[in-house]
Amino acid sequence: MSPDVLFRPFQLKGLRLPNRVVMAPMTRSFSPGGVATGDVAQYYRRRAEGQVGFIISEGTGVDRPASLNDPNVPRFHGEKELAAWGRVIDQVHAAGGLMAPQLWHVGGIRTRDPIWSPAGAYDSPSGLSRPGKPFGDPMSDVDVADAIRAFADAALAAKTLGFDAVELHGAHGYLIDQFFWDGTNQREDAYGARHLPGRARFAADIVRAVRNAVGPDYPIVLRISQWKQQDFAVKLADTPQALEAWLKPLVDAGTDILHCSQRRFWEPEFEGSDLNFAGWAKKLTGVPTITVGSVGLTGEFVAAFGGESSRPASLDELIRRLDRDEFDLVAVGRALLQDPQWLVKIRDGRSDDLLPFEKSALATLS
Ligand SMILES: Cc1cc2nc3c(=O)[nH]c(=O)nc-3n(C[C@H](O)[C@H](O)[C@H](O)COP(=O)(O)O)c2cc1C
Repeated sequence: MSPDVLFRPFQLKGLRLPNRVVMAPMTRSFSPGGVATGDVAQYYRRRAEGQVGFIISEGTGVDRPASLNDPNVPRFHGEKELAAWGRVIDQVHAAGGLMAPQLWHVGGIRTRDPIWSPAGAYDSPSGLSRPGKPFGDPMSDVDVADAIRAFADAALAAKTLGFDAVELHGAHGYLIDQFFWDGTNQREDAYGARHLPGRARFAADIVRAVRNAVGPDYPIVLRISQWKQQDFAVKLADTPQALEAWLKPLVDAGTDILHCSQRRFWEPEFEGSDLNFAGWAKKLTGVPTITVGSVGLTGEFVAAFGGESSRPASLDELIRRLDRDEFDLVAVGRALLQDPQWLVKIRDGRSDDLLPFEKSALATLS
């Protein structure tokens, strides 16, 4: 099947993308002390040189004492940290690329580093890292307000540095998602509720604060997932009606693009239709969506952390769905981590040159 549909331009507000391929956010932990290095800037520049239409950075921490659980993940606050990000976006722009930072707060997810811990207490809605597992204290009202402020400050910094958009990480069981999920949000105040639209208030307040900070014309992408790292089988919304009720307040607050994370993009979201998560989100809200999950590879990414290699896989199903406008953009993770020239090879029909994904790729910034 011809990949031409991947190379159709896409426009949202001032964001003019030359094609439909997005580099998925991928934590690389190559930024000692939270400062992105020149090697990090070159790593992103190589993806811009490889014609990737829109690059989303690895998750980068907002200004809360425990927004990150790894000392080598870059921060998006502080003078030297932001100056380093300025060098990243300058390199990407110099190669003709467009980029958003992924603004991140890990919430109640403990560090795996044996000798390091964050500068302050972990934040979480109800002092739980997963259902039934106590972990620290619930965030106070002051903490919640300050976390919202931290996202807005980071978004304004992104705009000031010249980034083309921002992405907010609301997926995969991290802080924003811990508010969405009743398993980790048992608050009885305005940020907790029996129903999902109520638990979406934290995210909606963040989107609103970000929107106020960056103004009406700056693109805001929100990444969401049904699945959690704590439980792959969880579905926040188990019907299209529940999905609509979840997403509507987020779109009303100012989200421009929903980035709908699945581990395998071809899996239907609800029975009775083959639409995937991004397909349903687009249909129900009318906003453009990004799909993601095992594009161009045989295996999915969680197994990859365990060492499983993946072989290159056909793009036909993806192309068929993109061509029928099920979603607007396609994020690619491991295939682009492995090979900055992946998209050029697709464009030029060089399928024999596509590389398998090997866990060893995680150890370098190539
Ligand atoms: C090494 C690695 C790091 C990741 N880090 C992040 C992250 O910081 N933020 C995020 O939202 N997703 C993260 N993900 C998930 C990816 O964005 C993507 O959703 C996932 O890899 C599926 O895409 P793929 O099958 O094309 O690799 C990461 C994935 C990998 C492989």
